[in-house]
Amino acid sequence: MRAFPTQGRYGRAGSVTGATTRTPLAAIILAAGQGTRMKSALHKVLHPIAHKPMVLHLVDSLAPLLPQAVVAVVGAGREQVEAALAGRDVVLAVQAEQLGTGHATARAEAALTGFSGTVLILFGDCPLVPSATLAALADALADNVAVAVLGFRPADPARYGRIIAEGNQVAKMVEWKDATEAERATTLCNTGLMAVRAADLWPLLARLDNANAAGEYYLPDIVMLALADGRRATVIETDSDDVLGANSRGELAAIEAVFQARSRTAMMAAGVSLTAPDTVFFAYDTAIEADVTIEPFVVFGPGVRVATGSRIRSHSHLEGATIGPDCEVGPFARLRPGTVLAAGAKVGNFVEMKKSVLGAHAKANHLSYIGDAQVGAGANIGAGTITCNYDGFGKYQTVIGAGAFIGSNSALVAPVNIGAGAIVGAGSTITTDVSPDALAMVRPAQQEKPGWAARFRAAKTMRKAD
Ligand code: UD1
Ligand code: CA
Repeated sequence: MRAFPTQGRYGRAGSVTGATTRTPLAAIILAAGQGTRMKSALHKVLHPIAHKPMVLHLVDSLAPLLPQAVVAVVGAGREQVEAALAGRDVVLAVQAEQLGTGHATARAEAALTGFSGTVLILFGDCPLVPSATLAALADALADNVAVAVLGFRPADPARYGRIIAEGNQVAKMVEWKDATEAERATTLCNTGLMAVRAADLWPLLARLDNANAAGEYYLPDIVMLALADGRRATVIETDSDDVLGANSRGELAAIEAVFQARSRTAMMAAGVSLTAPDTVFFAYDTAIEADVTIEPFVVFGPGVRVATGSRIRSHSHLEGATIGPDCEVGPFARLRPGTVLAAGAKVGNFVEMKKSVLGAHAKANHLSYIGDAQVGAGANIGAGTITCNYDGFGKYQTVIGAGAFIGSNSALVAPVNIGAGAIVGAGSTITTDVSPDALAMVRPAQQEKPGWAARFRAAKTMRKAD
C-alpha cells in the first residue's frame, strides 16, 4: 500500500488513542458570530484554509474521536453553512440573537437531547485544533473535574480572556474587559474551547447571567459556577498555533501560513523533496508519495495525487490531477481537474490539460491545450497542438491511439479519433478520423517562386533611396 500522507493531521493525530474506550463524545461548534471584520458576503466559518472551509477542518479533526453528534450553532447566513455541511453528519441549531458564547452553547441543547457523554465546545473560526488536543481536552474531565478548559500562551496576550490558575487547577476565568490590572498581567489565555459533561453543561448554562462589561452570557462563567458548587476545573495548555482564530482576512492568512508550514514539514518527513519549501502550496488533501520532487513555486489545488518518482517542475499549477509514477510535469504546466498521467508521461512548458488522460510514456512537451482527450501510451503531441473540444455549446472528445505522432501546430477538431501509430503532419487541421498507421496531412501545397525574394528586396531598396 502506498502511504499518501493525509494533510491536516501531520502525524500528531497518531497519538489519538482510546477512541473506543473514551466516554461518548459530542461537539458543539459555535458559528453564530457576525464575522463583521471579514467584510465578506461569505459566512466567516466557510472561508477556506488550504481550499477547505474552516468549519470542515474542525469536523474532520473531530472524526477520529468518533463523535456521536456534532451541532453547529449558526445565526445569519445559516443557509450557506447548511449547504457547506451537506453530506456531513452535522446538525444545525440557531442562535437568532448573538447574546454571547454561553447563550450560543445553550442553543445546542435540544439537538443533543438524550446525549449523556462529554461535550466539546469549539469555535467555527478556530480551525486548526488537532485531533489529539481535542482528545486530551475531553480526557481531562475526571470525577470531580466538571470543566476542562483549553489554555494557551500567545506571544501577545492582547485582549484574550484570562485563566487564573495554580498549576492545572483553574481558580477563575475572566474576560479582558472585566479583568483587573493584575489579572490582565496573567499570560495564560483562554482559547474559549472546553469540555464539559452534558449532565453538567445544561444546568450550568441555565444559571449564567449577563451582568458583565459586555452584557453577554459568557461561556467561561460556567467554570466559576462549577467552582462555587465545590467542583473543580482543569486547564490544559496547547501550542498557540493550534488555536489561531480568524476574525479578519489577515488572521485567515496567518492560519493559512501555519497550515502550509505544517504541510511542508509533513511532506518532507514523508519523503517528498521540496527544493524551496516556502514557495510550494498544498491543498488540504494533497497526497504525494515518497521520492517525488517538487521544484520551487508550485501550487496544488484540491484533489491532487502524485505517485513516486515524479518531478513537478517550477511554476506548475495542479488541481484535480492524478500523476502516476515517474512522470515529469512542467515547468509552467497547468493541470486542471480530470487530468490523469500514466506512468512516465511528460507534460512540458505551457501545456494545459483538462479531463484528459495521457497514456504511459506519452509526451506533450510544449505549448498545447489538451482537453477532453484520451491519449494512448507512447503518443507524442507536438508543440502547439490544440484539441478543439468546444464549439460554444458542447464539449467533444479527442481520442489519440497508442504511438500516434501529432505534428506541431495541429488543430484536432473534436469529436475525432486518431488511430494508433498514425502520423498527423505539422500544421494540420484534422476534422475527420485518421486510420491507424496512416499519415494525415491538411496543408495547402507549398509554392516556390525562384528569385522572388531578391527582386522584392531590390524593389524596396530602390524606393527607399528615392
Ligand atoms: C472568546 C472568549 C475569550 C477567549 C476568546 C478566544 C467568551 C466570553 N470569551 O472571546 O475568553 O479568549 O474567545 O478567541 O467566550 N459566538 C456565537 N454567538 C455569540 C457569540 C459568539 O456563536 O453570541 C461564536 C462566534 O461565532 C465565535 C465564538 O463564538 O466562533 C467566539 O466568539 P467571539 O466573539 O470571537 O469571542 P471572543 O469575544 O473573542
Ligand atoms: Ca474571536
